[in-house]
Amino acid sequence: MATSKIHSNIIFSQKVADELGKIVQQFPAGKVFLLTEETPKELCLPSINNVIEEYGIKTISIRGGEPNKSVRSVEQVWEFLSKNGADRKSLLINIGGGMLTDLGGFVASTFKRGMSFVNIPTTLLAQVDASLGGKTGINFNGLKNEIGVFNEPDAVIINTGFLKTIDADNFLSGYAEMLKHGLIKNPEHWEELMQYDLKKVDYDSLQEIIAHSVAVKEWHVQNDLTEKNIRKALNFGHTVGHAFESYALYDNRPILHGFAVVYGMIVELYLSAKVCGFDQVKLNEINQWMLQTYGKFEIESSAYDELYELMTHDKKNEGSRINFTLISTIGQVEINKDCSKKLIIEALDYYRQL
Ligand code: GLY
Repeated sequence: MATSKIHSNIIFSQKVADELGKIVQQFPAGKVFLLTEETPKELCLPSINNVIEEYGIKTISIRGGEPNKSVRSVEQVWEFLSKNGADRKSLLINIGGGMLTDLGGFVASTFKRGMSFVNIPTTLLAQVDASLGGKTGINFNGLKNEIGVFNEPDAVIINTGFLKTIDADNFLSGYAEMLKHGLIKNPEHWEELMQYDLKKVDYDSLQEIIAHSVAVKEWHVQNDLTEKNIRKALNFGHTVGHAFESYALYDNRPILHGFAVVYGMIVELYLSAKVCGFDQVKLNEINQWMLQTYGKFEIESSAYDELYELMTHDKKNEGSRINFTLISTIGQVEINKDCSKKLIIEALDYYRQL
């Protein structure tokens, strides 16, 4: 596995074909492969068709969606690579959303103990979070990202033009991770996100804002690739958020990841106020904005036990304690925080009554 790479090469470009062409040239003929899924295949793949044709890149498309982030899909891609003579000197290009780049990264990291891979994320969530930072993996036994490895891509090509192909909810879902980046590390970034007109997306200014968000993510990854320490900051909103996401699924009211993270951040901001002294006025101001922008996932108090139980199963916990990342002020994070069950229930009550 190519674990010696510490930093990804992140390229912002509206000319994906040119950037990809430069990368592909470095690999032997017949050794470059491409993995995609349905939507990007139709909407984004045409922009790199000339590179695919010029270099004879063999392409495989898998079904998208969380249920297909599976061992079966991985096997399908391994089989394709094996039949087409891929080896350690080969390159896999992953073009798609976060599910696709997570799975493709895992396939490449494990095939013959590791081949190179490049991510071309096509959703906002993938551009600011999933495709960066080397968390690769698949779901297993009903558990999200249960199997995987840390391994950074050789390059990530970010074309914000692709975002014109995603719907408003998926845009908001990715925006949630940007909000998180502002809250944990960069007050200026938080302010620009608050100023941004979400009702009338200006694609021209988007690249700069996305670059600020990517810089926050990269800072954490570069300082702690395998999440032993400061990378845990990126989990803000996720301990409660993942519980909401799973609960919503079991309750047949599925929500997008970023929406769950927003609801998680609302609860964890309350915990931040109680445990780390986060300002009460700011708490109310931010949470009102979050609810106005993202709506509310309604819960009854009868859901608390299940939500708490789900939090105790979070893979980021250490031993039996639920490990929270909280903030004391915008831009100032506190990792490895403990919260009692009583306080967590109080925070869920606060959310329910908003
Ligand atoms: N999505 C959080 C992380 O990459 O650490």
